[in-house]
Amino acid sequence: MKIPVGILGATGTVGQRFVERLAEHPWFEITALAASERSATRPYAEASRWRLSSPLPERLASMKVAHVADELPCRAVFSALDAATAREVEPLFARRGAFVFSNASAHRMDDDVPLLIPEINPDSLDVLERQRAVRAWKGSLVTNANCSTIILAMALAPLDRAFGVERAFVSTLQAVSGAGYPGVPSLDILGNVIPDIPEEAGKIEREVAKILGGARDATARRAPLVLSAMTYRVPVEEGHTESVSLGLGRKARADEVETAWQDFRGRDDVAALPSAPARPVLYVRERHRPQPRRDVHAGDGMCATVGGLQPCPVLDWKFTVLGHNTIRGAAGASILNAELAVSKGLLS
Ligand SMILES: NC(=O)c1ccc[n+]([C@@H]2O[C@H](COP(=O)([O-])OP(=O)(O)OC[C@H]3O[C@@H](n4cnc5c(N)ncnc54)[C@H](OP(=O)(O)O)[C@@H]3O)[C@@H](O)[C@H]2O)c1
Repeated sequence: MKIPVGILGATGTVGQRFVERLAEHPWFEITALAASERSATRPYAEASRWRLSSPLPERLASMKVAHVADELPCRAVFSALDAATAREVEPLFARRGAFVFSNASAHRMDDDVPLLIPEINPDSLDVLERQRAVRAWKGSLVTNANCSTIILAMALAPLDRAFGVERAFVSTLQAVSGAGYPGVPSLDILGNVIPDIPEEAGKIEREVAKILGGARDATARRAPLVLSAMTYRVPVEEGHTESVSLGLGRKARADEVETAWQDFRGRDDVAALPSAPARPVLYVRERHRPQPRRDVHAGDGMCATVGGLQPCPVLDWKFTVLGHNTIRGAAGASILNAELAVSKGLLS
């Protein structure tokens, strides 16, 4: 018996990725699709205007879209709602007893809410005990980070474990699909680069510290690193590229840094999850890599691809990292979180 799940914001950019990746999932079965009043009561094919290159799964094309405030026939929901809607709607589901896996920023920084990347901080699920006690919820809320944060954290975590990351600069080059649909007007972005994506830099700076900090005594901690982020929207369809310079706690040679990335694995129980990539971080030696067009689908979209390691004259090292924003940075990340909850016996 598969676990019945719903998707909130199912018609949007991330919602469609959830549909694609859950349609044939070995553990979960989509039993509800929900969105705004604009979509409610319409068949999913009509409301979603399917935009992915894979075909819309036939079974779901005729499913009637519910409104996100409706009671849905599912034990878990994957939320791809904007932050303002998520702030209201996600607690309703957790209160009613559902497990909520959220992509929205509304609750990410709360101390009793896991900000989970299973390969990095699987023990952050321990804070759920406190969450249920404090909020008197029958269900639970687990979040994944901002798309750029996840990709950056995956590149930093192996180096933090091996040498300590004390400070870093990051500049992001973010794909247009990261702004949702219809997103950035084409006349603004074609042949152009737009600096300073609203609220993005602060999210990256805060969230990386929470992810690398892990959890102790059922409370989320903050890593002491100092991080400065600049963000840019670029005319790329999928894949966020990030340019990183960092200072380490302990000096490391280039081969040690490369080995830290190549040897990085999640715990055995995480590596065995259906959506876990064989290697979460791929290091490419070839010059001029990674590139969105060539590398964004590495590991079925679940890998962070790192390349271009060079000494940094200001800090210690600089490099480029790339990841798929709607898969590893959103839907794929949430599904991996849900798989970990199942494997730990928290969701059945
Ligand atoms: N795009 C990415 O790469 C990415 C990556 C990581 C995280 N995220 C986060 O994921 C969330 C969704 O992003 P997206 O890019 O998928 O956005 P999107 O394409 O604009 O989709 C938004 C979804 O939310 C629904 N919605 C909008 N207003 C609503 C309301 N008032 N009540 C109920 N439902 C409402 C829409 O339904 P209708 O179709 O009915 O309007 C649609 O299903 C956001 O929090 C975003 O920050 C996005």
